[in-house]
Amino acid sequence: MSVLPIVTYNDPVLKEKTKPVEMIDKELEKFIDDLFETMYNARGVGLAAPQVGELISIFVADADLMAEETGEPAYGPIVFINPEIKELKGEVIRMEEGCLSIPEVRDDVKRHESVVLSYRDRDFDLKEQEFTGWLARVIQHEYDHLQGILFLDHLSAFKRRVHKSKLQKIDSGLLETEYPLVPKTIAK
Ligand code: NI
Repeated sequence: MSVLPIVTYNDPVLKEKTKPVEMIDKELEKFIDDLFETMYNARGVGLAAPQVGELISIFVADADLMAEETGEPAYGPIVFINPEIKELKGEVIRMEEGCLSIPEVRDDVKRHESVVLSYRDRDFDLKEQEFTGWLARVIQHEYDHLQGILFLDHLSAFKRRVHKSKLQKIDSGLLETEYPLVPKTIAK
């Protein structure tokens, strides 16, 4: 397994829609392992393929540490392949979020309490399951990544302005993190 460098804000790959996965092979299995290792190395709770530069419909998540603290259901580490949101349920809750592609920027985002998701698992078997609590939030955040949407896109123009200097720093490749990032190619 290897830790992959993470693509950061304003890289165009984060604004693209992903393509469905057609089959699982050895290469893809390794990629999924790498996604998990990259996520854990960065102390993240979710990571989507575009965040390591791959425009395919896969994300991984493990929100058990947070769920443990709040007494919510623990689902363990899960890979979601070709996920589709079937239904958003429950209350809309406002909570602070961050993103490994937008280091040091955090803000409140409204998400549904529960989500019904169809997806393929590691064996490419089709599943449909309802998730609630922290993992439901992580799923909605990561699902957005597969559509080219960042949590910043849910914020008001005013809130985005508040984060402007930090975002510029990330975009210029000047922000240092404890996990490896894809270097910015264009000198600014
Ligand atoms: Ni994210």
